[in-house]
Amino acid sequence: MSADDPAAAVAALFASEGAAEYFGEPVTQAEHMLQAAALAERDHAARSLVAAALLHDVGHFASALTGDDLMRGTDNRHEEHGAAWLGRWFGEEVTEPIRLHVPAKRYLCTVEPGYAASLSPASIYSLGVQGGPMQRAELAEFEANWYAAAAIRLRRWDDMAKDPGVQVPGFDHYAATLLTLAR
Ligand SMILES: [Fe+2]
Repeated sequence: MSADDPAAAVAALFASEGAAEYFGEPVTQAEHMLQAAALAERDHAARSLVAAALLHDVGHFASALTGDDLMRGTDNRHEEHGAAWLGRWFGEEVTEPIRLHVPAKRYLCTVEPGYAASLSPASIYSLGVQGGPMQRAELAEFEANWYAAAAIRLRRWDDMAKDPGVQVPGFDHYAATLLTLAR
């Protein structure tokens, strides 16, 4: 895997680990992330946020703990691992929405009536491992983050990107965008 070329590095992950089951969801990890990116493009998100959607769960691949550990009750903090791993290539406009996509779920569970009930069973399970709905004291800190709104947009695409019947562009569709964004 080349440390110089994020498109090649991430493409390799999508092709190998990405083909794995996505913890109890009806799509693979790669299908899930590609669907999230397609939803971001549909909503005319900035290129950096499309990239964030595409890469948001890469921490499940790169971290020492696996997603299976998450589903056994140990939070693998995939959002932190993924953001840190991607930081070798990308700026915070890509990595911060990724780092915040789990806090965004916890935030929405507290502030938005009906949000928690809309989550998939696997996502509701992982919510408990990830700290549950935000406490009131945590809300202001989240809202003060420059990337909070972007993280909430990413979260909504994440939640929708679990449709086994949908066809979306493959990884190659985004390779040029990744190379443009990489520093
Ligand atoms: Fe996700």
